[in-house]
Amino acid sequence: MIVLGIETSCDETAAAVVDDSRRIRAEAVLSQTAEHRPYGGVVPEIAARSHIDHLDRLIGEVMAKAGIAYRDLDGVAATAGPGLIGGLIVGLMTGKAIAAVHACRFIAVNHLEAHALSARLTGAVPFPYLLLLISGGHCQLLVVEGVGRYRRLGTTIDDAVGEAFDKGAKMLGLGYPGGPAIEAAAATGDPDRFELPRPLIGRPGCDFSFAGLKTALVHAVRAAAPLDAATVADLAAALQTAIGDVLCDRTRHALATYRAARPAAPTLVVAGGVAANRYLRDRLAALAAQAGVTLRIPPPRLCTDNATMVAWAGIERLQAGLGDRLDAPARARWPLDPAAAPGAKA
Ligand code: KG4
Ligand code: ZN
Repeated sequence: MIVLGIETSCDETAAAVVDDSRRIRAEAVLSQTAEHRPYGGVVPEIAARSHIDHLDRLIGEVMAKAGIAYRDLDGVAATAGPGLIGGLIVGLMTGKAIAAVHACRFIAVNHLEAHALSARLTGAVPFPYLLLLISGGHCQLLVVEGVGRYRRLGTTIDDAVGEAFDKGAKMLGLGYPGGPAIEAAAATGDPDRFELPRPLIGRPGCDFSFAGLKTALVHAVRAAAPLDAATVADLAAALQTAIGDVLCDRTRHALATYRAARPAAPTLVVAGGVAANRYLRDRLAALAAQAGVTLRIPPPRLCTDNATMVAWAGIERLQAGLGDRLDAPARARWPLDPAAAPGAKA
């Protein structure tokens, strides 16, 4: 089975060809960061126009690199949500058109499910497993029971973890996107010079909160102004360490909750753009070793947004007998666990 994947939910235009033997035949990601940088964040209208400008060419490139014809495709998988609606429509319409013209299956993929299943492309990870999903728009702990079957244990009650990185970087004058910039600056910083809070640590449950951390950083930045390079590094290190403490504490709680219901040692999977962070990968590896659980984190390029994971989610869904009609809608919001508390961030 060979599937073409398309990703356009935010500021990466991406296409990939993947097969069911887990071979990535071709992949390409075009980041729009340079176009959004002057505005300090993603501008939806610019993102949608840029997807239109580049997607067709990118698809042509991966098809050529994979060395296959469109008639060889078993399916086309496109991200249908959640994300910025303009970009989603561009990718979805393109995917539907290719599927219609070449009479192959179409799969409307949930971007969060693509992140959730990405670890099964790069290694054998049987269901069920515990998932820490950390990205620009989400911060959740979920039990992944199977394809399309998710149970949410906790989510953020305010900002997503990627937002904490991005807003923190903005305050420190490190620009956009913030995650990689904070990681680089923190490498030479002293994490103990500034004291930042660890919201919700030690509290029951598996929810997250990052708003208080952001406010505390604002105050620290004001008190330390004007910032020299060493101070920026120290503040970045303090922020990254506080985020690491919060993620580890909440994941520890989730592992305990998960284990209370299941005797077998769980596998912990971490996915989403923030999982590209080396420091956090090391912290979570230490946590997993201490807790005696297997840890699986896809390589960094498959943690940040890409179409390889979308193609793979398409394969998993086709294998599970799930496909979509050509009238599948784009969805700005699309929670993985529809039964999770109403009103909470998806
Ligand atoms: O999964 P993703 O590419 O897009 C969404 O689905 O949101 O995640 C993007 C987020 C951004 O907030 C970005 O700053 C963060 O992932 N990120 C990182 C790193 N690389 C990307 N955060 C921390 N450290 C990194 N190295
Ligand atoms: Zn993502």
